[in-house]
Amino acid sequence: MKFLVINGPNINMLGIREPEIYGRQDYAALVGFIEESARELGAEAECFQSNHEGAIVDAIQQAYGRFDGIVINPAAYTHTSVAILDALKAVAIPTVEVHISDVDSREDFRRVSYAGMAAIKTIKGLGFEGYRQAMAELAGFLNARS
Ligand code: DQA
Repeated sequence: MKFLVINGPNINMLGIREPEIYGRQDYAALVGFIEESARELGAEAECFQSNHEGAIVDAIQQAYGRFDGIVINPAAYTHTSVAILDALKAVAIPTVEVHISDVDSREDFRRVSYAGMAAIKTIKGLGFEGYRQAMAELAGFLNARS
């Protein structure tokens, strides 16, 4: 089972960026955690991060036929990007949306998620652990489907 884990803008600033919201661990630590969690599930994870909406759309398109599942934290593009939603719908790869913070308890504009409309599940507010749960959710979904 192969998962593509996509992180959007400013996730590369983890550890520096608003640590009271996003924690003190950096993006490299997140990648290590995701790779280890995937191994524990008997799966493989490839991580991709970009600050650019089009690059994220390209990564989703290129996942077609190559990955069994997508975990995506579109970061700020969550709340604005119809292009990312359309790309997820186009490839129709089972997707779980993740947010490190609890977006529901923050500003109102963070309650809207376009990408979430194409996701089988959304996990919020669990920090890095959310990515592990997202991959476990995908593994369960894919096993039940096969
Ligand atoms: C985020 C929440 C978004 O609202 C924000 O723009 C981010 C990160 C999260 O992981 O909690 O950049 O997706």
